[in-house]
Amino acid sequence: MERITTTEAASRLGIDQASLARLLQQHRNVIPGLDAQEPDKLPVEVVNFLAQLMRNQGKPGAANKQLATVIAVTSGKGGVGKTSVSVNIATELSLRGHRTVLVDVDLGLANAHILAGKAPGKTLFDWLAGRAEFPEIVVDGPGGMKMISGGSGVKELADLDDGGRTRLVEAIMALRPHCDVVILDTGAGISSGVTDFVAAADHTIVVTTSNFAAIADAYGIVKVLVQGGYRKPMHMVVNRVRSPEEAEQVFKKLQGCTQRFLNNELNWLGLLPEDHSVEGAVLQRTPFCEAYPASVVTKYLKKVVAALERYLPKRS
Ligand SMILES: Nc1ncnc2c1ncn2[C@@H]1O[C@H](COP(=O)(O)OP(=O)(O)OP(=O)(O)O)[C@@H](O)[C@H]1O
Ligand SMILES: [Mg+2]
Repeated sequence: MERITTTEAASRLGIDQASLARLLQQHRNVIPGLDAQEPDKLPVEVVNFLAQLMRNQGKPGAANKQLATVIAVTSGKGGVGKTSVSVNIATELSLRGHRTVLVDVDLGLANAHILAGKAPGKTLFDWLAGRAEFPEIVVDGPGGMKMISGGSGVKELADLDDGGRTRLVEAIMALRPHCDVVILDTGAGISSGVTDFVAAADHTIVVTTSNFAAIADAYGIVKVLVQGGYRKPMHMVVNRVRSPEEAEQVFKKLQGCTQRFLNNELNWLGLLPEDHSVEGAVLQRTPFCEAYPASVVTKYLKKVVAALERYLPKRS
């Protein structure tokens, strides 16, 4: 079981050491894995448990404020529908009353604003270059959501170093007291430019199609995450399927490999069918759930969002 120091645990939770000690004392009967031999180290599972507890109950000493749930959307393979899924989930969550911020962390090749019909205006690049304050790069998006663009065709962003990514992750985490959900639309691949954002999220949605290479790459990103110590929930969305059976087969295949070789679980979140409405909506620069509310793909999207809502804290 991976263990981290209490200093790092307090920093991950955004509280001081004394608050962490109080929290551990209060919940010692329900926290598994505390080790009297190594009191200055905590299992990562315990830190995740405390993070969930704080989200449900509010940070100690922080006026009982709930922190937003951060959800990363990733895939391994490119072009399987991450951005389409991110934009539409964010729109549907906003329409259901969740204060949602979509951050396009496909750095340098960001295109969520195109699907959402928004000019990017100032982007993460302007913020990183010191030309804009963080609030200035937040724009209004569809369904009442807020959006932050990652900049398109910007090599400096694609080449962002570890320090830059750490600053960016911290800035994204600082959004949490101000909204209910943060959706991170990541790029393709398994580089740190993707995994650093996923590692910071509370939940990950892995998108795949039934294409063999897409399934292999979805397993690839799950493997990299698990082997890197990621222990938070991983959900599957199987996109562009022709039947529910096709989606089920893909999920079973991935779930089987994840259980057998990685000793980990994937959660079924849902499927999205192949549907012309998706391309039609892209041409209209509108999320498909707004452009085609009666389409089959929107019906399934609503099921996915309803499944996702089960993992979100109740809104007060
Ligand atoms: N369910 C669907 N039915 C039909 N077309 C779809 C569906 N989902 C996505 N597409 C189309 O697939 C293409 C790729 O989608 P999208 O840009 O969302 O993928 P991506 O994973 O974000 O790609 P990248 O890795 O380049 O960021 C788009 O043209 C999109 O309209
Ligand atoms: Mg994309």
